[in-house]
Amino acid sequence: MTMPSQDTLLHKQPLWYYIKNNPRAFSLGMFFLLLTNVLDGIYPLIMKVAIDQIEQQASLSDLARTCLLFFAIMASLAATRLTWRIQFGKFHTFAAEHIRQKLFRHITSLGPNYFNKNPVGELMSLMTNDVQSFRQAIGPGMLILADGFIIMAVVLPIMASMSWSWTWKTLIFLPLVPLLIWKVMKLIHLHYKNQQDRFSELTGVAQETVGGIRVIKSFAQENHRTSLFNSVSSAFEKACNKVAQQDAYFIPVMEFGVASGSVILLFVAKDDLFTGAVSIGTFVAFHRYIQKMVWPMTALGMGFSFFQKGYASFDRIKEVLKTESDIQDTGKITIEKFESLEFRNVSFRHLASPHQILKNVSFKLRAGESLGIMGPVGAGKTTLLNLIVRLYPLEQGQILVNGHSIEDITVESLRRTFLLVPQEAYLFSESVFENVSFGLGEPATTDEVQRMTDIVDLSHEINQLPHKFESQLGERGVNLSGGQKQRLTIARGLIVRTPVLMLDDSLSAVDTKTEQAIESELSRTHTSMTRIIVAHRLSSLKNIDKLLILKDGVVEAWGSYQEVLKVSPTFQKIVQIQGEGAAHE
Ligand SMILES: Nc1ncnc2c1ncn2[C@@H]1O[C@H](COP(=O)(O)OP(=O)(O)O)[C@@H](O)[C@H]1O
Ligand SMILES: [Mg+2]
Repeated sequence: MTMPSQDTLLHKQPLWYYIKNNPRAFSLGMFFLLLTNVLDGIYPLIMKVAIDQIEQQASLSDLARTCLLFFAIMASLAATRLTWRIQFGKFHTFAAEHIRQKLFRHITSLGPNYFNKNPVGELMSLMTNDVQSFRQAIGPGMLILADGFIIMAVVLPIMASMSWSWTWKTLIFLPLVPLLIWKVMKLIHLHYKNQQDRFSELTGVAQETVGGIRVIKSFAQENHRTSLFNSVSSAFEKACNKVAQQDAYFIPVMEFGVASGSVILLFVAKDDLFTGAVSIGTFVAFHRYIQKMVWPMTALGMGFSFFQKGYASFDRIKEVLKTESDIQDTGKITIEKFESLEFRNVSFRHLASPHQILKNVSFKLRAGESLGIMGPVGAGKTTLLNLIVRLYPLEQGQILVNGHSIEDITVESLRRTFLLVPQEAYLFSESVFENVSFGLGEPATTDEVQRMTDIVDLSHEINQLPHKFESQLGERGVNLSGGQKQRLTIARGLIVRTPVLMLDDSLSAVDTKTEQAIESELSRTHTSMTRIIVAHRLSSLKNIDKLLILKDGVVEAWGSYQEVLKVSPTFQKIVQIQGEGAAHE
């Protein structure tokens, strides 16, 4: 775990933070970059010597020595260029990896409210595009800037020593280059962002079309989807074109620097060349140096632009890293043995919702008792279960476990006491076996997995899949029916063996016969388990000790079957429709 002070450093000075964390790669990279530029700065001078030697008809051995030196410098340049690239590569890919993992860990620690507010697409873009542009700033961006400055520091003194007056005259227009490059880069980034957005749109439509192909076909909407795809596809093409157009300005702007410098050099050098005050070798070398100055100027524009973009991305990353979860895990108590669950005047409203979803809910359940919760759709049943495992922060009232407020209990202990099998059966694209053992955090034994799927009456069906328990689910794997998915999610909950199991309408897609088989198996194998079951069918609530009837967030009735039947009109209606015998035989 990183220390808080380290986090402060990361938020304030990300570049410095990563230099401190990876000093070897950074300093080796810098050293070899410097060496490269010095060697690179020297070699036109060797060229000058060679040309002058030829002009003065120097001896062959002298010329050979110069050539050898030239070759040695070029060979060393190749080696140093390779080394700095490798070292810097290590430096910035490490930084990107680190920040991506940190971001992912932090995002997964946030509560569901955060995900209600922030669409998946934005979080994906944060973990990919923003991390990438931050990496570009502290990697290539910083490199380009350092490279530019080092080259200037090497080349300018050499040029000035050759001729001060040539230097300032030929370079006078060069400062325009970074300015123009920066402008061009800004436009490129702008259009590039648009291109990325169009691309996400394109993949979104393609993905949804493939995923929902059955629905599209049954509604005969292929043509409509195709024209939708065509329109987002051509929007993407236009965006790509825009980027290419802006890109095209890049080279001409750079060439403008060389061209202006070269033309001016011809003018200012012609007299010196005629009189022989300056050798051709010097002229050629000087011209080479003018060319060499174009890159540092471009680098200033590019590097600055990379930094601007990367730090804007880092600000977005930082904002997420600084977002605190609305569920604070500051409790100290751990639950050794579950004794009771009590709601005391709990009222709750969702963040975006103007209405209270739960109003003054109170009840108490003891270990070993089982509770059935019934009520119309939207009554607040799911919300009530979510509050117990602290998926949402509690506002008014108290939820007590063994007499302790749930905020005082560690979240881990709370979730090891209550297991919620959610209404929606969400399975991962892994094998059946891995999905069942998901909650254990480690592979379960084959026996255990088999036992749990036996309880939910699913083993027979799994054994008919092509690879049995090793069959892959989800994308390109097998698809289970709604009822099979539900039973699998129950098995996934059962295997954890928490003291309390909460089933949120988990048997809705299972037929009554299977439901009863599950029910009787469960009472036989998990005798000491306390059950809280949300259901719509009375048949799901056999062997239930207590009933809670919720309506519009209010407890309409609480108590035994007979007690509830006496006072709750909602329950009376259910019994009337479904038949008295369904619950108590
Ligand atoms: N994340 C949310 N934000 C805002 N309102 C929500 C959210 N989740 C549920 N609701 C609303 O809360 C009410 C109760 O929902 P829920 O607890 O799912 O009811 P039930 O499970 O009884 O059908 C509904 O009106 C629903 O629209
Ligand atoms: Mg619900």
